[in-house]
Amino acid sequence: MTARTIIVTGGGTGIGRAVAAGFAAAGDSVVVTGRRRSKLDETVAELGGKVSAVDFDASDPAAVTEALHRLPATIDVLVNAAGGNTGMDHPAPEPGDLAAEAAAWRANFDANVLTAVLVTTALLPRMPSGGRIVTIGSIAARRGGGDYGAAKAAIEAWTASLAAEIGPRGLTANVVAPGLTVGTEFFRGRLTDARRERLVGDTMTKREGTTEDVAAAVQYLAAPAAGHVTGQILHVNGGAYLGR
Ligand SMILES: NC(=O)c1ccc[n+]([C@@H]2O[C@H](COP(=O)([O-])OP(=O)(O)OC[C@H]3O[C@@H](n4cnc5c(N)ncnc54)[C@H](OP(=O)(O)O)[C@@H]3O)[C@@H](O)[C@H]2O)c1
Repeated sequence: MTARTIIVTGGGTGIGRAVAAGFAAAGDSVVVTGRRRSKLDETVAELGGKVSAVDFDASDPAAVTEALHRLPATIDVLVNAAGGNTGMDHPAPEPGDLAAEAAAWRANFDANVLTAVLVTTALLPRMPSGGRIVTIGSIAARRGGGDYGAAKAAIEAWTASLAAEIGPRGLTANVVAPGLTVGTEFFRGRLTDARRERLVGDTMTKREGTTEDVAAAVQYLAAPAAGHVTGQILHVNGGAYLGR
């Protein structure tokens, strides 16, 4: 396959890092993005090859605009992996504290929806026919998950309209929706054994998902051969939720 140019938001850690590693191993040029320069530099050093990093906050329109001159002029594959449950970073709002409730909902919307929408909107003009957009959703979109699940559900709706918009240009847009995936910073080190056991128990495979499991699904949707697969949600959760 001819080498391609790949952008992976959230590529410094976890799922995004595994996605970047897969493309780098195939000889592609990969740009990983995120807010923490130090994490990105570590990833670039570890992955080697044609991997570079551009730091910016993908939820901030001005920061995305500023980053454009540091990003490649032509992009074949965009993987929107930036995100996470911002509720992990602060205590749950007190009941009745509507200001805190609103802030929590906005934070998850910004982190999971705006990151993908802003970067995609900014980079679409740089994506020629054959381009692929893959956004990381979540099992939470189908299971509940409050403000985080609602944000990931919005990703699914947005991807459906995006796929229709860009299909005539020969581009596809899909979602990969993981279940429990270890080897990431997602749980901020606070995943209890009891919760881990419950989530593994929900699967048919009776194991945790790995970042490589998710990266393999992204690789498939990003492949030139997947050109007639668009607007879809690919669930990578060991059967914990059946997306049929
Ligand atoms: N792990 C799971 O069990 C699981 C399950 C379902 C879905 N997911 C989804 O998978 C995706 C990847 O998460 P992960 O599990 O790999 O966790 P992770 O290790 O925390 O990765 C999230 C990445 O996103 C980046 N990021 C977050 N907000 C950003 C922003 N505003 N601008 C730029 N970069 C931002 C973070 O880097 P900086 O902090 O340096 O910006 C980090 O590298 C997320 O969308 C998450 O919701 C994870």
